[in-house]
Amino acid sequence: VAAEKGGYEHFMIKEIHEQPKAIKDTLTSRISEDGQRVVLNEVSLTKEQMKEIDRIHIIACGTSWHAGIVGKAAIEQLTRVPVDVEIASEYRYSDPIITDKTLVIVISQSGETADTLAAMREAKRLGCARVLAITNVVGSTIAREADDVIITWAGPEISVASTKAYSTQLIALYLFACYFAQERETEGAKEVPEILNALKNLPAQAEKVLQTAPAIEAFARAYADKEDAFFIGRGLDYAVSLEGALKLKEISYIHAEAYAAGELKHGTLALIIEGVPVIALATQDHLYEKMISNIVEVKARGAYVLALAWQGDQEIGKTVDQVITIPRTLPFLAPVLAVIPLQLLAYYASVARGNDVDKPRNLAKSVTVE
Ligand code: G6P
Repeated sequence: VAAEKGGYEHFMIKEIHEQPKAIKDTLTSRISEDGQRVVLNEVSLTKEQMKEIDRIHIIACGTSWHAGIVGKAAIEQLTRVPVDVEIASEYRYSDPIITDKTLVIVISQSGETADTLAAMREAKRLGCARVLAITNVVGSTIAREADDVIITWAGPEISVASTKAYSTQLIALYLFACYFAQERETEGAKEVPEILNALKNLPAQAEKVLQTAPAIEAFARAYADKEDAFFIGRGLDYAVSLEGALKLKEISYIHAEAYAAGELKHGTLALIIEGVPVIALATQDHLYEKMISNIVEVKARGAYVLALAWQGDQEIGKTVDQVITIPRTLPFLAPVLAVIPLQLLAYYASVARGNDVDKPRNLAKSVTVE
């Protein structure tokens, strides 16, 4: 087992560090040589079929569901086709509205999650146009039953807490969003070459983000004995906050909540007291000023704020206690980089508390029962 961990203490930290390669492998061969177009030979949906689609349902559980929330934003921004993101265990019993123009996207690292599989079968039974699966396991049940499959080339993920599967699911969703826009010839398709160029830079940038580990480790140690933590953000930063909070809960057992920053004053602000750690994400440029005011609100109640911001941000340090930066990419792609410090935070908090990082209590890697 020690050898399988490649010198790392746990599978989780090994898998966190494998993300640059996993992202690269998931992108490779899916971008045309001239960098202008997405090539998804594995997707057999024709241009005409894609033009017919008038609604998309994304269905998943856990971390894969969080990836789906980012996927919705990507697809809607580039194509203006409405996307619903549903938790599989809810979807399957919700009498979903499906027509022959509904595309269903299921996301599952393992390809075996019982609820996701059942939801997918239900969508088929109700006559959806097609099912596209995004999965990390070739030959899994979901891969076999779906009409089309985009494989995330993350390689085997052993740690129960998902890391590289999530970041590669994001890549697969960005690629699909670009592809869908390109084939439908939408207004948003014009942005595709710029997005593809930025996607290609992500592996090297992810490598840089990994260098934040010592600072995150210090923060995690200092706050490891806290009972609560809050993650706040707006737009895509909120989507990443959800994943950051889940990660922390799963393996450190610290109670964590993700909140859409603008919604704080409608409830959670009551929980912000002296010394409570708040992780504030500020990568969405068009929401930056709003985010700063939300940070000021929690600071005023005594929170200790760790901000996640772009490299070169000269402003945010004036408002918060500590800043972790990530290299500039398109705000649209920020989740891929922003999630890494949050994964590291969960990891180091779990280690500091002496937990079984790779096998958290009560949880399973793949949930094949309802
Ligand atoms: C389990 C795992 C989670 C995972 C979820 C969905 O709960 O512990 O990490 O996100 O299942 O798994 P899937 O394989 O369908 O992505």
